[in-house]
Amino acid sequence: MDMDKVVCSCMNVTNGMIRDAVKSGAKTLEEVQDATGAGTVCGACLDDVKRLVEEFCSE
Ligand code: FES
Repeated sequence: MDMDKVVCSCMNVTNGMIRDAVKSGAKTLEEVQDATGAGTVCGACLDDVKRLVEEFCSE
């Protein structure tokens, strides 16, 4: 996976930033939203953010 790829263009959040948030203790979509801001503006990226959170949580 490209960790520099932007998943949430509203907040400029990358795959790597989602991963860092999970590795820092965020376990749910809501916690990752709080930590990164991803998915808190238009919501178009929510499915992708959710999928990433699940994927990184299971690493
Ligand atoms: S693209 Fe993530 S909130 Fe808009």
